[in-house]
Amino acid sequence: MTLVSEPAPGVWVLRTPHSAYVLTAGEDGPLCRHWGGPVDDESALALAAVPLDVARGSWESPVDGREEYPSDAGLRFAEPALALRFPDGTRTVRWVLDAAEVSEGHLRLRYTEQTRPLRLTLHYRVTAGHDPIERWVSLDTDVPVEVLRADSAVWCPPPLERYRLSSLHGRWGADSRLERAELPAGTVRLGSRRTTTSPMHNPWIALDDGTATETAGEVWTAALAWSGTWHIDVQRLPVGRVAVNAGAAHEEPVASLSPGTSYVTPVSYGLYSAGGFGAASRAWHEHVRTRVLPHGDELRPVLYNSWEATGFLLDEANQMALAERAAALGCELFVMDDGWFGARVADNAGLGDWTPNPARFPNGLGPLIARVGELGMRFGIWVEPEAVNPDSDLYRAHPDWVYHSPGYPRHELRHQLALNLGRPEVADWVHGWLDALLTAHDIAFVKWDMNRPVTDPGPRGDLLWSTAHARNLYAILDRLRRAHPTVRFESCASGGGRVDLGILARTDQVWPSDNTDAADRLLIQEGFGQLYPARAMTAWVTDAPNFLTGNRLPLRFRFHVAMAGVLGIGGDLPAWSLSDQAEAAALIGQYKRIRPIVQHGALYRLRSPGSSAAPALAYLSAAGDEAAVFQFLSGHHYGEPAPPARLPFLPPGTWEDADTGARYPQAFLATHGLDAGLFRNHDSAVTHLRRV
Ligand code: DGJ
Repeated sequence: MTLVSEPAPGVWVLRTPHSAYVLTAGEDGPLCRHWGGPVDDESALALAAVPLDVARGSWESPVDGREEYPSDAGLRFAEPALALRFPDGTRTVRWVLDAAEVSEGHLRLRYTEQTRPLRLTLHYRVTAGHDPIERWVSLDTDVPVEVLRADSAVWCPPPLERYRLSSLHGRWGADSRLERAELPAGTVRLGSRRTTTSPMHNPWIALDDGTATETAGEVWTAALAWSGTWHIDVQRLPVGRVAVNAGAAHEEPVASLSPGTSYVTPVSYGLYSAGGFGAASRAWHEHVRTRVLPHGDELRPVLYNSWEATGFLLDEANQMALAERAAALGCELFVMDDGWFGARVADNAGLGDWTPNPARFPNGLGPLIARVGELGMRFGIWVEPEAVNPDSDLYRAHPDWVYHSPGYPRHELRHQLALNLGRPEVADWVHGWLDALLTAHDIAFVKWDMNRPVTDPGPRGDLLWSTAHARNLYAILDRLRRAHPTVRFESCASGGGRVDLGILARTDQVWPSDNTDAADRLLIQEGFGQLYPARAMTAWVTDAPNFLTGNRLPLRFRFHVAMAGVLGIGGDLPAWSLSDQAEAAALIGQYKRIRPIVQHGALYRLRSPGSSAAPALAYLSAAGDEAAVFQFLSGHHYGEPAPPARLPFLPPGTWEDADTGARYPQAFLATHGLDAGLFRNHDSAVTHLRRV
């Protein structure tokens, strides 16, 4: 299959295993002619020849909802993807196509501005065997220009009778909630003005005509690989079409370019699926695991994290005690959370002073790291490099390093101010101490946290807070990864505040939420899994009652929910009963047996926790010969049905329960289903099936 072809001059076709994308050279930039199922060249040419919609009256433009990258002047009324302002205040540009270049699935459409030495390149890339289409834009200038807006892409699904929008929204402790609603006329803006991705919205959307299901129907979905301020504007235009603008920044300018410089947008991905929401998610997961994550083929270890057990009250002795219990249960990575450094005995002091607290670690971190190693585990550590407590030596020495407007209040959140990573000396300092920490110690894992948004951007802040912060964050992570290639990173921002395809290209897993209540987590994990694979989803088993919700859920249920991702333990282990510890050890053992299926397999959502009191999901191994089936009762009332989970996706053959030896023909599992015998609310089961 040719990934990119040009069956006639000015007609380009991008092909993925299950989709095709056809665009044509327009008067003033390319037009989308097809984003949907596969087409041959003949059909592509027919699609390219379909006349544009007829404008009704003088208030419409035939290119609205068709333009791949509209500017903000000219005969068009949809939101611009690009808005430029020249020193004299002029905004008008007109793009003339210079060249269309194709190399290995990468199409570059090169434009020059009609009168100015300004070049715009639209990039499209498809990868053999993968359905997502990558798009981004670069702008090179030989004249000064302010970039007010430069989206990564505009995605134009075909005209449908109605549109339904799926999105992920939330707040702290209630991250990544899936919402599906009719798309109203006008513009729905998802985004973040918080300088991190934020838990409020995630940069992903899906559109369908209201009839798609988990297993069937056409779905058009898009995502943005960016961890700073962002927007995805879903416009239902008066002409009946939809255009989805995805880009960095919110309402601020994104760059101020001097002659000889350039601006490159982050990547936006688009993916079409004819197999419903489930197939769309599986296509995303496969791509994220194999093309985005730095080591997606690795199996992630079972980790222990100290946060919910010791909070800020940690010291060498209690961490060693936790490590001993964690190792005895079968944990493979011990992560010490917040509170190990400076005067950080509560959240109001010490953040920024990254040397071990001498009262807590009189001989530094060495003895604890050595003990963790003796116990057969790797060592991981928590950091929050982008923030500072005003009560810290760092802030006393560099009060100007934080975002602020001189003479105006410095707004604290969680007693913190945000460090201005856009300043080179701040970025160098962050890189320097992290590099020294990783050089001095045998550290295998860094949990990189960020617990406050930026609120006071200050002078030149319009540019700093829109893009520079995230770019420097990426640069620091990239440098650290190059210098310390065995270290793995976890992205956290008070839970799921920095989960996106940009951060996942330079971290190994993410902490999806501070809410560890397993019943809530079912919903959070369902939202997370729309786009992101289980391989990237850290999930801890914590104590009962849960610190946030007060719920007392059975240990087994808590484990089973966490075993659907990268299993971790976050409870106060010395307080666990011996029987709980024995059960935990057995469940960790089971997790290690199914881990390759969960972390590298294909996800099938069987019943949604949003609409069913008997939610279920399954993973099928990459080879199709093993499955892990998860069944729960959650929000279930006594006596209500808890039907068996049907498994129509299993390949033909006889399947055996790896733990009990029970055997089932595939057609039985597809039609009757797997009966886990769940009875009471919060009963749960994980069944490991093997094809015999
Ligand atoms: C927020 C994180 O999400 C928690 O897991 C924990 O690391 C705390 N920060 C520590 O301050």
